[in-house]
Formats: sequence, C-alpha cells, structure tokens
Amino acid sequence: MILTHIVACAQNRTIGSHGTLPAWNIPEDMKFFRDTTKGHVMIMGRKTFESFNGRALPQRYHIVITRYPSKYNFNAPESSPVVFVSSLQEAIQHADSLTKTWGEEVFIIGGGEIYKQSLELDLTDKIYLTQIHQSFEGDTFYPSINENIFELTDRRDVENPIPFSFLTYKRKDKELE
Ligand SMILES: NC(=O)c1ccc[n+]([C@@H]2O[C@H](COP(=O)([O-])OP(=O)(O)OC[C@H]3O[C@@H](n4cnc5c(N)ncnc54)[C@H](OP(=O)(O)O)[C@@H]3O)[C@@H](O)[C@H]2O)c1
Repeated sequence: MILTHIVACAQNRTIGSHGTLPAWNIPEDMKFFRDTTKGHVMIMGRKTFESFNGRALPQRYHIVITRYPSKYNFNAPESSPVVFVSSLQEAIQHADSLTKTWGEEVFIIGGGEIYKQSLELDLTDKIYLTQIHQSFEGDTFYPSINENIFELTDRRDVENPIPFSFLTYKRKDKELE
C-alpha cells in the first residue's frame, strides 16, 4: 500500500476556512483531485467529509475518521461506499484490506488534523501538493514538509487563473514504483 497525501495549500499554508476551502477557485486542481483519486480509497477526517455537504464522491471508497463512529450511518451508493472508523490506524488497516479492489495507492485527503497526525506518525509515503503562490485567509493549515524525509520529484508550474505548482514529494527511504 502506498499512502499519499493530496492537498492544495496557499503560500501561508492555509488549506481551509470555516469548514470549506479558502477563497481560491482553481478548476485544474479540482480536476487533478478528481482524476487522481477516482477508483481509490480516500481517508479523511469527519469535518472534511462534512464539507462535501452530505454527498459521497462518485467512484471512490470513503473512510471517515471520527471519535464517535457509531453516531453515523450514511446511506451511500454501492459505487462510493462510506465507512466510519475511530482512528487513523484503523482507517489504514481497513484501507489495506481493500487494495485488491481499490488499488495500492490510498489517498489521505485531509483535513488539517488528519494530515498532521499522519505526518507525525511517519505514515506518509508520497505527497501531491498543489502549492498556490499566493496567501489566503484561513483557519486550517498544512504542516511544512520535512525535506530530510521527503524529496521533490516532480514539478509543473501553472499561471492561470493564479500562479500555482503541482508538486510531487516522495519519501527518500522508500522505493515506490
Ligand atoms: N486544501 C485542501 O486540500 C483541503 C483538503 C481537505 C480539507 N480541507 C479543509 O480543511 C478543513 C477541515 O480540516 P480540519 O483539520 O478542521 O478537520 P478534519 O481533519 O477534516 O476532521 C477533524 C475531525 O476528525 C476526527 N479526528 C481527528 N483526529 C482523530 C483521531 N485521532 N481519532 C478519531 N477521530 C479523529 C474528529 O472528528 P469528531 O469531531 O467527529 O470526533 C475531528 O473533529 C476544511 O476547511 C476543509 O475544507 C482542505
């Protein structure tokens, strides 16, 4: 299993504001997120799941982390299951059991709390970071990437609608295909 963060982050490291994305609108990044995660397992915090406004994203398996999993019972379509678990470790274990059907690459899609914990626990293999070269107001942040652990392996710069870069980081100590 490859555990990959996928995140869009402003120059001042904001990723969220009042439960939604900060005030950027970058259709190419939305498309990148859709194309990259389609057909895969996505692990997320309860607040990120709620930011989808009660909808599961099509053709993805959702694992939602909450301290109160028994509180939730989501009626998801068969093609986009939603399960609730009580820890990041449980989420990863569950994702690992699904790789035959949903692929080796499992995405951690946020938010701030879940990104932070998975970096602190040293569980992340790869990071797709959309680095926006402008600051935005917000209340949720992405940690700075430790370049002793991760190396930048790919970069594509884009100018419109605002300047940003698609960056790929990989763990230095793990061989990924
Ligand atoms: N820019 C991006 O790429 C991006 C991506 C994703 C999200 N976001 C933004 O980020 C914001 C949400 O992030 P957030 O940090 O506020 O919340 P979050 O990480 O999405 O969810 C936090 C919730 O996850 C659960 N949780 C966290 N750690 C846990 C643990 N160890 N054990 C059990 N449950 C745990 C708790 O749920 P309970 O309270 O239910 O216990 C907690 O309230 C939103 O604004 C969203 O739009 C941005």
